[in-house]
Amino acid sequence: DANDTARLKREAATWAVDAFFRSSMVVGLGTGSTAAFAVQRLAESRAQGRLVDVRAVPTSRETEALARGLGVPLTTLDEDPVVDVTVDGADEVAPDLSLIKGGGGALLREKIVAQASRRLVIIVDAGKLSPRLGTRWPLPVEVLPFGWRSQSLFLESLGASVAVRRDERGEPFLTDQGNLVLDCDFGPIDHPEELAARLGSRAGVVGHGLFLGLTTDLVVAGSNGVEHRTR
Ligand code: A5P
Repeated sequence: DANDTARLKREAATWAVDAFFRSSMVVGLGTGSTAAFAVQRLAESRAQGRLVDVRAVPTSRETEALARGLGVPLTTLDEDPVVDVTVDGADEVAPDLSLIKGGGGALLREKIVAQASRRLVIIVDAGKLSPRLGTRWPLPVEVLPFGWRSQSLFLESLGASVAVRRDERGEPFLTDQGNLVLDCDFGPIDHPEELAARLGSRAGVVGHGLFLGLTTDLVVAGSNGVEHRTR
């Protein structure tokens, strides 16, 4: 149930921070409920006198507020353009460690920070593992508000059923950049590289949740404990 899932998320997050973060590093902090446990662990470790002189790049305003509230020293990619290790969650993880991300809407900053990182550690509960991307989560696509209905038709022409993401008040959800998110249900995605290339060459599409070839480490917490896989 939800309590068990939360416990597994915390286990994966704690394990990853303890295994990968070291003093004096620039670290990337992901977004979402799993990544939030990693921010908490980083703050706890600092309070206990470990992880001295760490500076953190947050991947969203949400994570920035959380980290700031816990006293974690923050930096930016302007000051620190290379990140040593980023720890982030995911919505779906395929056997080759490719991902769907963006359930929390932070996909663009998450990918920018991931691509700026020497190491990307993905932390999940075992329920996120999937035989093929698109099986358990629609693909989030971030689009400029300008011309968004044309993007929606374009995405449908690629085979997706498309829903505009809405916030809890029923208004269109806006990303940290002020863009819209179109949740695209393609069903199982047979050729993610090809889809990523098509999305990447479309003006007005500013980001998408396919993270291909970026994960260096996966930390999965399940009923039999924590498992670490590398690519
Ligand atoms: C945020 O934009 C996403 O990429 C998150 O990493 C993802 O939604 C995982 O969220 P949870 O850890 O809350 O499941």
